[in-house]
Amino acid sequence: MGAGIAEVVARGALPVVGIEINADALERGRGHLEKSTGRAVKRGKLTPDGQREILDRIELSTDFAALADCDLVIEAVPERIDLKRQVFARLDEVCRADAVLATNTSSLSVTEIAVATNRPTKIVGVHFFNPAPVMKLVEVITTVLAEPAAVAGVADLVTKLGKTPVTVGDRAGFVANRLLFGYLNQATAMLENGHATRDDIDVAMKAGGGLPMGPFTLMDLIGLDTCLGVLDAVYAESRDRRHAPSPLLRELVAAGLLGRKTGRGFHAYDGAPAETVETSAAAPAVAVLGAVPGIEGTADPSAAELVIVAEDAAVPDAVKPGTVIAFLSAGPVADRAVATGRPGDVVGLWFPEAGTPLAEIAVTALTDPAAADRAAALLAALGRTPVRCRDRAGRIVDALRFPYLNDAAHMLGAGYADAASIDAAMTLGCGYPTGPVADLDRLGTARAVTVLDALYDESREPALAPAPILREHATAARPLR
Ligand SMILES: NC(=O)c1ccc[n+]([C@@H]2O[C@H](COP(=O)([O-])OP(=O)(O)OC[C@H]3O[C@@H](n4cnc5c(N)ncnc54)[C@H](O)[C@@H]3O)[C@@H](O)[C@H]2O)c1
Repeated sequence: MGAGIAEVVARGALPVVGIEINADALERGRGHLEKSTGRAVKRGKLTPDGQREILDRIELSTDFAALADCDLVIEAVPERIDLKRQVFARLDEVCRADAVLATNTSSLSVTEIAVATNRPTKIVGVHFFNPAPVMKLVEVITTVLAEPAAVAGVADLVTKLGKTPVTVGDRAGFVANRLLFGYLNQATAMLENGHATRDDIDVAMKAGGGLPMGPFTLMDLIGLDTCLGVLDAVYAESRDRRHAPSPLLRELVAAGLLGRKTGRGFHAYDGAPAETVETSAAAPAVAVLGAVPGIEGTADPSAAELVIVAEDAAVPDAVKPGTVIAFLSAGPVADRAVATGRPGDVVGLWFPEAGTPLAEIAVTALTDPAAADRAAALLAALGRTPVRCRDRAGRIVDALRFPYLNDAAHMLGAGYADAASIDAAMTLGCGYPTGPVADLDRLGTARAVTVLDALYDESREPALAPAPILREHATAARPLR
């Protein structure tokens, strides 16, 4: 991160001093800088002269005394509070009394770092995202001790460097990591408790949640050790058990399976071919009872392989035994399955987002596994992307996205960050196609309240109760933005 940040500042035409712990580390840093700017030259985004100018602006040293004249120092040493405090004590000695000292910490308390210095008013958080030269978001962290001018100066500099600053208070995980890791940990818990498989959760969040990648692919990319560190830090402050790292995550880290960087994490990266998706070539005979958005019935219920039943329609007696009956429902269908007298043939079916191919198949305690297999193959033949999960409220996508959206609504309601900042944090910092506040307005606060109430009723998890701001806006039928 240090090399990336140095590059960003030098690209902004400012002189930079880069400090490393020893000569080897300094050479590694030099290598990072040369490689990263070299890639930009190869892609035609930078001229060789431009590269030279950037590199010439960066003085590299292992001597902290080289920082004596700096206006701003950005620390990016490993994420350990003892090490950060030690480095800040040293910076305090060598830097000018009016210099601002910033930390790139992802999840440690900036206040805790500030109080260990003789200049707590001049300690600010400046959280770049990886890779710093590419990612547009920078979270600027203020503390109760920080001078407003120091914080504003850092935010101005971030803007001048072509990035988007989002200024927020000193809460573990700030905006982006706080929201992202709650969701990632919940996905892990979902896997661990057998609600759905790794691949079905990954596929669901991509195909139906509109995300660039599923949670397990993303955690493997971030590094499971980093994920564990962030969750531990967020949990230490929030004491919200949804942030307590899932035992599965801890186990993978203890086993040294850290994700892409070690060749295996949730997924294996050994070049093995991906599992094939179940599909069937022939157009299936489908009967649709009631209004099922996006699916046309092609057959009479007595001749159908799949009968999709909307909420208020009844299952006709003519449906032959062995035909898959799918109840369209966002919530459990086990009681309706029992009422049919043939619960083995019944699954729940939900399309969490119109316009996406995802079809969530809920498998009840009584569903015959062969019926679930047939349901998946038939939906694939209809051009849908089927995933399976247990017969629980919210299925996969809604059960993962609405708690995340609720967390964002709590941040908004508490005034921790405004709507534009929260949305910028997730789009620019995490690569989400849209921010959570925009998502809530698109999906509707009324739907958010309904889904969260159902999730709360099922789990009795206090954090899943809808944020007051959601109920308020749902009642008033007013968007959040
Ligand atoms: N990696 C990320 O995706 C990411 C993203 C945002 C923020 N961060 C934060 O940035 C910081 C650094 O993370 P990283 O992933 O770059 O870690 P890293 O381990 O890759 O790099 C840390 C560097 O600090 C050097 N170092 C260690 N002790 C030092 C000392 N006393 N003086 C000078 N240099 C020293 C190390 O030699 C190493 O090169 C952490 O606080 C982390 O939370 C990381």
